Amino acid sequence: MKTIRASIIGFGAVGQGVAEVLLQKDEYLKNIGLDIKVVAIADSKGAAIDPDGVDLSKVLSKKRANGKDKGTVGSEKYTGLEIITTIDHELVIETTPTDIDTGGVGLANMRAAFEHGRDVVTSNKGPLALKYRELAGIASENGSNFKFEATVGGAMPIINLIREVLAGNDIISIEGILNGTCNYILTRMMEEQASYEQMLAESQELGIAETDPAYDVEGIDAACKLVILANSIFGMDATYKDIDVTGITKITPESLMLAQNDGYVVKLIGEVRKDLIRVGPRLVPVGHPLAVGGTLNVASIQTDLAGTVTITGKGAGSIETASAIISDVIAIYR
Ligand SMILES: NC(=O)c1ccc[n+]([C@@H]2O[C@H](COP(=O)([O-])OP(=O)(O)OC[C@H]3O[C@@H](n4cnc5c(N)ncnc54)[C@H](OP(=O)(O)O)[C@@H]3O)[C@@H](O)[C@H]2O)c1
Repeated sequence: MKTIRASIIGFGAVGQGVAEVLLQKDEYLKNIGLDIKVVAIADSKGAAIDPDGVDLSKVLSKKRANGKDKGTVGSEKYTGLEIITTIDHELVIETTPTDIDTGGVGLANMRAAFEHGRDVVTSNKGPLALKYRELAGIASENGSNFKFEATVGGAMPIINLIREVLAGNDIISIEGILNGTCNYILTRMMEEQASYEQMLAESQELGIAETDPAYDVEGIDAACKLVILANSIFGMDATYKDIDVTGITKITPESLMLAQNDGYVVKLIGEVRKDLIRVGPRLVPVGHPLAVGGTLNVASIQTDLAGTVTITGKGAGSIETASAIISDVIAIYR
């Protein structure tokens, strides 16, 4: 049995999902020879630390005791960065908020983790959308593993699918829907012949869109994910600022109806190929593999040997995103 000491830095929807999945899959993990022992958890207010393994059920209850975002994981006055730099462990699970302007605390956390020879598994897009090459470089210099399946498409396996399952193929292009909020709004506008504003309000009520939806509806989130694919799959050195991006805010129900009359739906499509990265609304034929509805994500990968491979799945959600994180953890240590 291999014991892996881990920290979880950021204990919101995704961090808690990881803790739940570790509890749920404990026996499975042990059966494949892995004992993942979480020795520290941090949120923005404090930390829980135990070198023998934090009691995940207790920390989850404590965090959730006072309602969403009110509780804290523990009373230790350690920041995530202090945990990474001072507590002995092998793996940092980095799930702090995405900051696409500066990389935020996630960037400092990842740099520090690699400088201390730790592996990083993350769902945090910001640092990768800004500094992928630098981070991959420090990881490699320090012999650390760096895995980030959860940053693109949540539970939809795309990076590991391409790198491992499709190994040997040249990747010609990837195109798809990488933002579930935009897909939901466009799908509902079409179904209800309703305005963008009405369906944005509906998606906010349902908790699908954020109170400040700009990051999603202006296409920036999809652009960040494309940049991660461009850099990690196509070897580019792009940042999201290099991308030609158009969001969905100007789309009218009338234009959707015209498209529908001709047998098309309108989707916010991200596309990356050698020398081209762009995000914008596109006409997709009804029945085409990319024409998925609701909050689903989808990606078509065009390859030289396997032809086109299309995958679809849930792009967000606590447990769904934790699925991608756990699979990265298993891939490193099994
Ligand atoms: N939710 C999804 O479905 C999803 C899917 C794919 C990727 N992601 C990405 O995954 C990351 C986490 O998402 P989420 O939905 O879990 O976000 P979230 O619910 O907002 O949780 C963020 C967590 O980070 C903590 N945090 C903030 N600043 C911190 C700091 N300086 N040090 C330590 N912890 C800090 C917060 O603390 P408090 O609890 O004290 O506020 C909170 O626990 C984000 O980068 C997001 O873009 C999310």
